Amino acid sequence: MMMDISEEITVNRPHFVQQNVSLSPFNTFKFSYQAQYLAMVDTIDSLKMVVNWAHQQHLPITVIGGGSNLLIRNNIVGLVIVNRLMGKKCVVEEGGVVLLQVAAGENWHEFVRYAVHKGLFGVENLALIPGTVGAAPVQNIGAYGVEAKDVIERVQVLDLLHDKLQWILAKDCGFGYRDSHFKGKWKGRYLITTVEFKLTRISTLVLSYGGLANQIKGEVTLSAVFEAVCDVRRHKLPDPSVIANAGSFFKNPIICAEQHRRLKQIFPALVSFPVGDDYKLAAGWLIDQAGWKGVRHQGVGVYDKQALVLVNYSEQNAVALLALESLIKQSVFERYGVYLEREPVELPTVLSAKEELS
Ligand code: EPU
Repeated sequence: MMMDISEEITVNRPHFVQQNVSLSPFNTFKFSYQAQYLAMVDTIDSLKMVVNWAHQQHLPITVIGGGSNLLIRNNIVGLVIVNRLMGKKCVVEEGGVVLLQVAAGENWHEFVRYAVHKGLFGVENLALIPGTVGAAPVQNIGAYGVEAKDVIERVQVLDLLHDKLQWILAKDCGFGYRDSHFKGKWKGRYLITTVEFKLTRISTLVLSYGGLANQIKGEVTLSAVFEAVCDVRRHKLPDPSVIANAGSFFKNPIICAEQHRRLKQIFPALVSFPVGDDYKLAAGWLIDQAGWKGVRHQGVGVYDKQALVLVNYSEQNAVALLALESLIKQSVFERYGVYLEREPVELPTVLSAKEELS
């Protein structure tokens, strides 16, 4: 049953739960949809308290981290939890391998900077990715030849169905290219509280991705790679605190060898990378070559330095952006016969974890 977003529930409501809150500060597209209730939580106790309250009131729960990979397209009924759990601790150090537990609300880039500062290899290629540590496993963030799954050992979650904390091993998280069970079959079930990373003091630099090595001036060290990645990203990608965006808006599509061969005949400059027997196409190239780069359309647009990124210049809601998305998808499909899939996670999720899973 849909609930009127203005309806007020005061029974046992924890004092830090606010009503009818604009979500504009909590999504980097800056869309100003409302949350019926919103709670920022920074301890496990306050988290459990608000989850219990939402369950008592039969309110659906939605979790937001840094809001940098979200497409909010409507008001969110129920309780929105903004995850601000903080803290880092080293749990094991043995033979150059370090297991580090980082709370989900920590800023991702600050964590990367911390690891580099401590001389720990593994996440340096993932520098300057916006968002929180807890969001990293959800879409298995990746850049410059490294993905979060390469360094995640296990993920601690609050199971919203059984109200208990548990650890899930990385191998069981269904990690794929910008994908995991957290945004798939487990969507709405688990709230990520801590991520355990396996980093190393032994050099494991990955420099194979498109010209990263050439960006490094001087000696190739951990911090030189970190700085080079920061430079490339600052140059190519819009800073969400300046221009509203959610990073890559589309995934790079994967096509079979036969379709790749035919496309390459028509478009010899096609940018692609072999993945097993298939090929991954650079969606940015497809969109760029179809003439979309830098296009502005009703207050939203395609970023002029990276066509894979859609930006919001002024719109309060997602309508114009969704229209632009459709136009781009249609144009790319007509030109190349390739279907583009959206990358950011869409909210709201309509059903509560309890309704959906019981
Ligand atoms: N390209 C163009 N025109 C464009 C954009 C790209 O021709 O407007 C070409 C580039 O010249 C290059 C190729 O496409 O040859 C690939 O571009 P780039 O190296 O910028 O990477 P990408 O495939 O567009 C992916 C990730 C980014 C990540 C970079 C670097 C996805 C969906 N995106 O982008 O991740 O930073 O690789 O590893 O996989 C994100 O997920 O939000 C994100 C920014």
